[in-house]
Amino acid sequence: MRTTKILSFGLMALLATGFTSCFRAGGHNTGTVYMPDMAYSRAVETYAYRDSSKFTTDANDAGFKIYYDATPVAGTIKRGGVSVFPLTKDAGSDTANYVASKQVVNPLPALNEAEMAEAKRLYNVNCGICHGEKLDGNGPLYKGGEGPYPIAPKNLVADPVVSKMPEGQMMYSVTYGKNLMGSYAAQLSTRQRWMVIHYVKSMQPGNQLTAPAATAPAADTTKKTK
Ligand code: HEC
Repeated sequence: MRTTKILSFGLMALLATGFTSCFRAGGHNTGTVYMPDMAYSRAVETYAYRDSSKFTTDANDAGFKIYYDATPVAGTIKRGGVSVFPLTKDAGSDTANYVASKQVVNPLPALNEAEMAEAKRLYNVNCGICHGEKLDGNGPLYKGGEGPYPIAPKNLVADPVVSKMPEGQMMYSVTYGKNLMGSYAAQLSTRQRWMVIHYVKSMQPGNQLTAPAATAPAADTTKKTK
């Protein structure tokens, strides 16, 4: 008799817990975390919330907390990447580093057909909207003045300065932006920016190196690599 009582009490307790966990907060709430170390990883993960009582992005707090600002260690290159652009952004526009950038050479060797096709694709996706598929500065955003863009983007093939612009200086402007044109450092990796510059150069008069292949790009560099 006593055992039955204990058993039925136990059963009711189990049911009660079951129901409350199902019905609380409309079933959308996952409930209280009673073992946070199991629910939330203590490892540093990209985009994950970092406990500010343990981690700091301020180098001055480094001794007291774990210093981690999620940027790669200076001088390191990710596998398959190219070295970062060596010049920092000028404080003003067109000053020392913009001039010095003329000396920076494109670290990528001449592109093969498939790479050039990929560079063309990247140009059309990122730059063509303003500079146009023909690189004539008349992309859909400008459309001969009919589009919403307030000024004509530079004609990359006919502009007397840009058509002769050294690759390093183009890289400077594509990396840090130039007046109304924004920076493309977040959209295109260093390698991709140099690829696009190879493509732009190949389209400029006197530089027809490799004709861009009409075939589908063989290497999609925007695809995630493992
Ligand atoms: C939103 C429109 C827009 C897009 C997109 C854009 N540009 Fe530009 N670009 C401009 C404008 C406007 C200028 C003229 C800036 C100035 O000199 O005032 C310019 C200037 C340039 C110049 C000359 C820079 C200099 O130092 O004088 C180059 C080279 C260039 N763009 C290349 C690119 C490349 C490559 C891309 C794609 C990665 C790109 N642009 C995307 C609008 C754009």
